[in-house]
Amino acid sequence: MQKHILITGCSSGIGLAAALQLHQRGDRVIATVRRQADIAPLTEQGLEVLLLDLDNADAMPAIVADILQRFDGRIDALFNNAAYGQPGAVEDLSRNVLRQQFETNVFGTQALTNLILPAMRQQGHGRIIYNSSVLGFVSFPYRGAYNASKYALEGLADTLRLELHDSGIHISLIEPGPIESAFRSNAFTKYKENITPEKRVHRQQYLAMEKRLSTVGPAVPFTLPASAVVKKLIHAIDSRRPKIRYYVTLPTYLFAILKRFLPHRLLDVVLRKIS
Ligand SMILES: NC(=O)c1ccc[n+]([C@@H]2O[C@H](COP(=O)([O-])OP(=O)(O)OC[C@H]3O[C@@H](n4cnc5c(N)ncnc54)[C@H](OP(=O)(O)O)[C@@H]3O)[C@@H](O)[C@H]2O)c1
Repeated sequence: MQKHILITGCSSGIGLAAALQLHQRGDRVIATVRRQADIAPLTEQGLEVLLLDLDNADAMPAIVADILQRFDGRIDALFNNAAYGQPGAVEDLSRNVLRQQFETNVFGTQALTNLILPAMRQQGHGRIIYNSSVLGFVSFPYRGAYNASKYALEGLADTLRLELHDSGIHISLIEPGPIESAFRSNAFTKYKENITPEKRVHRQQYLAMEKRLSTVGPAVPFTLPASAVVKKLIHAIDSRRPKIRYYVTLPTYLFAILKRFLPHRLLDVVLRKIS
C-alpha cells in the first residue's frame, strides 16, 4: 500500500534524500521547506512540496489542515527532520540565541507532532520518527545549544512513546553521527550571525571551529551519505516492530558503548580529547 509520509526540512541533506527515495519507491510524500525558492527545484524532481517554517507557530495549524486534506485524512508517517546547529561556547550563548535554537529544534518540532497526532490516533496507527543525533546523548564542547535541543527532543520522544503505548502509534529516534549535508554550512551561518569570537575567552577554539565549519567535504572521519539515515528511516516506517533508537555511523555506536560503560569523568576526558 502506498504510504502517506510528511517530512520536514527537505531543502537539502537528509530530508531531501529521504523525500526523493520514498517518492521513488512509490510512497505519497509531502516534502516541506521553509523558503519559496526551494520549492521549484524539488517539484522539478517530482516531489509534492509545501512551505512550513517550524518557527511560525501561527501558520502551522492551517498548513497541517492542508496536509491532512491532501492525504485524505490518512497520515502513516511523520519524519521530524528539520533542525539546525548553533555553535558556540555555552557562556557565549545569549538567551535569545538559545531560545531560537529551541524554537526550531524542539518547540516547532513538537508543535507539529501534536497537530498530527489526533489524525494518527483516529486512524489507530502511525509512525513518528525524530531525527535526533549522537549529540542527543553525548555532549561535545561548543555544541551546547544544539546538544541541549537534541537532549530535549529525546526527552519528549521518550515520554511520548510511553504515553502512546497501545495506541498503534510508534515513536522512533534516529541518532546519526557525521552525515554529508548542508548542516555544517548552515551552522557556520548561525555562528557568524550570533558569535563574536574576538571578544571571547574561547577565541582560540573559535579559530579552529571556523576552519572546521568552512571545510568543504567531510570534515571528520566516518562521515556517511544521507542515504545511511534514510535506510534506518525506512525500517522505522515499514517494520512491524520499529526500533526505539536507530544508530547511524560508527561514532554513534562507539559513543553509545562508551556512555554506557565509562564512568562520567572518564567519558569527559574522551570527549575533550576527541573534540
Ligand atoms: N549532518 C549531520 O552530520 C547530522 C548528524 C546528526 C543529526 N543530524 C540531524 O539531521 C537533520 C537534518 O539535517 P541535515 O544534516 O540534513 O542538515 P541540512 O542539510 O542543514 O538540513 C536541515 C534542514 O532543516 C531545515 N530547517 C532549518 N530550520 C528550519 C525551520 N525553522 N523550519 C523548517 N525547516 C528548517 C533547513 O532548511 P533551510 O535550508 O531553509 O535552512 C534544511 O532543509 C537535523 O535534525 C540534524 O540535527 C544531522
